[in-house]
Amino acid sequence: MITVKNGVFTITTANTSYVMHVREGKYIENMHYGRRITPYIDPDANGLIDPSAVIADEQTERALEEKYTNPYGNSVAAAGNNWCVTLDDMCLEMSNPGTGDYRSLPLVIEGPDGCMSTRFYYKDSLLYEGLYSEKERTGMPYAHGASNGTDRPWTLELIFEDVYEGERGKGLELRVIYTAFEDCDVITKRMVLINDTDVTYTIRDISSMMLDMQGRDYSVVTFDGLWTRERHIHTKKLESGIYETGSTNGTSSNFHNPFMMVIKDKATEDHGGCYGFNLIYSGNHRERIEVSEYGKTRILCGLNPFGLAYPLAPGDRFYTPEAMLTYSHKGMNGVSHNCHRFITDHVIPPYFRGRKRPVLINNWEATYFDFNRRKLINLAKVAAGLGVELFVLDDGWFGDRSNDTKALGDWFVNEEKLGGSLDSLVKAIKNEGLDFGIWIEPEMISEKSQLYEAHPDWAVKVAGKEIYTGRNQMILDYTRADVRDYIVDVICKLLGSADISYIKWDMNRPVTDAYSAGETVPGAFYHDYVLGLYDVMKRVTSAYPHVLFEGCSAGGNRFDLGILAYMPQIWTSDDTDPNERMYIQGGTSYGYPPSTMGAHVSASPNHQTLRETSLETRFNVAAMGVLGYELDLTRLSLIDRKIISKQISFYKENRDLLQNGMFSRVYESDNNTIWQVTDERKEHAIALLYKRTAEPNQSYDILYAADLDEDALYRVRVRNIKVKVKTFGNLINQISPVYIKEDGIVQALIGKAYAMDGETEEYTVSGATLMYAGIRLAGRFIGTGLNEGTRVMGDYSSRLYSIDKIVH
Ligand code: GLA
Repeated sequence: MITVKNGVFTITTANTSYVMHVREGKYIENMHYGRRITPYIDPDANGLIDPSAVIADEQTERALEEKYTNPYGNSVAAAGNNWCVTLDDMCLEMSNPGTGDYRSLPLVIEGPDGCMSTRFYYKDSLLYEGLYSEKERTGMPYAHGASNGTDRPWTLELIFEDVYEGERGKGLELRVIYTAFEDCDVITKRMVLINDTDVTYTIRDISSMMLDMQGRDYSVVTFDGLWTRERHIHTKKLESGIYETGSTNGTSSNFHNPFMMVIKDKATEDHGGCYGFNLIYSGNHRERIEVSEYGKTRILCGLNPFGLAYPLAPGDRFYTPEAMLTYSHKGMNGVSHNCHRFITDHVIPPYFRGRKRPVLINNWEATYFDFNRRKLINLAKVAAGLGVELFVLDDGWFGDRSNDTKALGDWFVNEEKLGGSLDSLVKAIKNEGLDFGIWIEPEMISEKSQLYEAHPDWAVKVAGKEIYTGRNQMILDYTRADVRDYIVDVICKLLGSADISYIKWDMNRPVTDAYSAGETVPGAFYHDYVLGLYDVMKRVTSAYPHVLFEGCSAGGNRFDLGILAYMPQIWTSDDTDPNERMYIQGGTSYGYPPSTMGAHVSASPNHQTLRETSLETRFNVAAMGVLGYELDLTRLSLIDRKIISKQISFYKENRDLLQNGMFSRVYESDNNTIWQVTDERKEHAIALLYKRTAEPNQSYDILYAADLDEDALYRVRVRNIKVKVKTFGNLINQISPVYIKEDGIVQALIGKAYAMDGETEEYTVSGATLMYAGIRLAGRFIGTGLNEGTRVMGDYSSRLYSIDKIVH
């Protein structure tokens, strides 16, 4: 709900309030954003407070507004009166260069005379049901109403006008736009700049949102990394001065994800006030937090000003990406729950909301570029027998693409390699019982390609300057309409040529020389590239709304809300080592739900880290996302096939829970991590217990749970796993009637056909017991004692526990 009353603007969601008012007729002061507050009520009404009432009464307003009584030393006074206030010490919704607010500013534009001072003062407001992006074509993805159509969000526009008394007269307008997504405690904000003057302005810096908060006792939590180690969590105490993060490589990047949290100092996973911020955007972004000496904290999120000099001609509008804000008093898990719900209900394409995602086999790590029709069909045959549902043909099926030095852009099928047309291959795979999906990298062009020969000016480069490639390739200039039309046509033709139900859309290198041979000027390149990308994605996905697109960018280099608005899942990382995935998926989970994270079981030793892990652990970790397999299934031993087949059955039985359940990070110690997904009715949950390294002589682990009904009874059962004979090395001879040489033929033969059953363990306890005391699980193998009850838990080991309510 949003209300505008007596100059007070109140945005109310289920558990939060965002309150602003007009001050001195021209400024908008932020009075509160955080846990929901209730208004003052007339004492005649028995002092009762109506929680649904809005904060528009004078008493509450008087209590919340900042008090200024003394002029401050050498500070600058707000213009036009003898007021004691300096804008440098006010929580504002909009602030201008040249007005004495020396903190980081949300908007810096340059006039034709080079002047950068502005006077955007509040003029008016507009309140309506619906979304700004429904009335204006912004060219960018946006948060939509709930897919069932019942929940129409409300939008508030605060209109600021640049008060300019010179020759140019008025005509510059700034709108700060708020939409309330009440169900998930999210408010979105964005700024729109409108140039109705007759001169061109240059945008130097423009944020989507600015939030000023009282106090300075906060920490910032960011998710940073690199290729194969994306989104690791980092927490930093905010101190006086500026903290800044973001990306400048043309993508939202694996360096610093646009999702961040600002948490009160004592907040934990489950308690305390936490704010979450994100951007519905896939390009350069910047998050800036300034802790002022007046004891206030300013947060800015939006485009990165790096390389930005965006011309805004007369009659033009500049739309910033939509920023997401959320608050929870229930700690970081509370923020995650809000973000997860917001993404599934308001960001991903509504068609895919809650829709089951197929278990897939991807041939990349199974074959790399070295495949032919026979190999692919054999892989599909085995995969189908194990329960896999979708076959994904990765890189190497087109043009002369036998390695990664060439052919990107030549999107015609290499029929020689595929042993026939794509359609015939798809039919053969479908004949094995699998759906078919295919990889493309449509934003790229190889120097060695027919496309580059025909259109060298379609590549992003500065003519005459040495070219810097990444993975031997260049970027296609999506700022150009002719390039975009060409690519849309190519992808639509590909999709029309065979029965394809899934596309993996890759993007393997970042931008370097931001320069177009077309019309886009360099200062507009980064943003226009992203707008071009959205244009292509929108045209393709709306032509094929039921095709499942999975975003990818060298793994998780572009894991953001902009991509998710077109593609409901993203390849989380090229790193499939489960131990690394615990960091990567764990970090990602703070801002994004399991249904967005592609997670595959791959070979051991792992191809990225050479770490050896058990097949069961690889599955247990991948099961906390959208499951796939990415290894040569045709070479599996008999026992591994049995194991995988059981894994897939378990996943399918629990797919809805694993993909769409509420995800919580339940417990974390040096060695053990517990995550849990729970259904809405709290009737079923699955917990993952992961152990990084084995601890000697510490015999049992404790399983804690979360999000259950305290008073209900739950049955807790471990998912039965297989333990390989090899795990025991030569210790096996302590129980074997015949001597088994380690790494010898007998061990190999036994290992291929046989594995021991892991422990069976079952408990029936109340939700409260599970959540507040935890189950002390059966003893672990610690060098002595081994029987059916022993939990064999070495390094990188794990278990999944099903937790089911006993309904009488
Ligand atoms: C990227 C992707 C991989 C794979 C390769 C193919 O690295 O992240 O999953 O598709 O490209 O070249």
